[in-house]
Amino acid sequence: MKPLKTLDEFIIDRQHDFPHATGELSTLLGSIKLAAQIVNREINKAGLADILGSHGRTNVQGEEQQKLDLFANETFKAAMEARDQICGIASEEEDEIVIFDSPRSRRAKYVVAMDPLDGSSNIDVNVSVGTIFSIYRRLSKPGTIPILEDFLQPGERQVAAGYILYGSSTMLVYSTGNGVHGFTYDPSIGVFCLSHEQIRIPKQGKIYSINEGNYLHFPEGVKRYIKYCQEIVPEEGRPYTSRYIGSLVADIHRNLLKGGLFLYPSSSPYPRGKLRLLYECNPMAFLAEQAGGRATDGERRILEIPPESLHQRSPFFAGSGSMVKMLENYLFSSE
Ligand code: AHG
Ligand code: MN
Ligand code: MN
Repeated sequence: MKPLKTLDEFIIDRQHDFPHATGELSTLLGSIKLAAQIVNREINKAGLADILGSHGRTNVQGEEQQKLDLFANETFKAAMEARDQICGIASEEEDEIVIFDSPRSRRAKYVVAMDPLDGSSNIDVNVSVGTIFSIYRRLSKPGTIPILEDFLQPGERQVAAGYILYGSSTMLVYSTGNGVHGFTYDPSIGVFCLSHEQIRIPKQGKIYSINEGNYLHFPEGVKRYIKYCQEIVPEEGRPYTSRYIGSLVADIHRNLLKGGLFLYPSSSPYPRGKLRLLYECNPMAFLAEQAGGRATDGERRILEIPPESLHQRSPFFAGSGSMVKMLENYLFSSE
């Protein structure tokens, strides 16, 4: 039996991946790991506790906040603030940046953008949900409070990014720019153990993931790509299959492991796309590229988009390199 390697041991082994951060990454990821364990516990008994359903408030996105959205937001905020490695966060559930204003937090070098609970609409029906995080080195001087510009950095400046998937098993998947690594939570001993080292996305996949309910509103190139995926190819039969969970973390995780293309185009309900650049598109694009795949908004690399506001949205296409290329052929062809 392969010896177990915990997340903490893995980070220490790979400390050289995260230069000039003697132990900071492990402390930072440690706070995320702790919060993930707490949120995981609530999700696993959500049907029993009074934590399902909506909270009756809407967030800055105009979306109804689920009780678990807020629970996850408060849990991750508290865990991050307690470890003094982060001077502030941006969150889907917070209108503005949240400043950690203690003298020790002010000296911290990092900021985090997060989606504390991704796929909220799936909670009440027991379908996988997730948490997404994106870590930057601050631009403002340590010793001061963080400023908006610390968070409006292009995705290629992320020093780490990852997600927790609360699925049939709970996994933490992250990258510090040296490959993507997955850890599966063993609740019997309360640790995340290395289970998927150096995840590489297959160059070509057979899965396309898109909410076809918006088909009529998609750009023409996306419509033509979907029809291409549905064509019967004589020697191959149906080369593609459609899989869409409606939780970005779950859809991306499956495509990372099996290959595939995730698409959330602009559509009339969402003229600039639905997914948020800072805490959904950028971290997922970082992981897709680190696993050997690609991520684009249809015109440029997601990671090169200069953010203008905390909650700005973007069209998002990410996954197997060959499938992104094929999609681009349809997006750029005029016929
Ligand atoms: P969130 O629950 O954080 O608002 O994110 C939901 C997102 C994402 O998880 C998923 O890919 C997408 O919304 C699904 O949107 P549709 O229901 O419009 O397909
Ligand atoms: Mn989300
Ligand atoms: Mn969310």
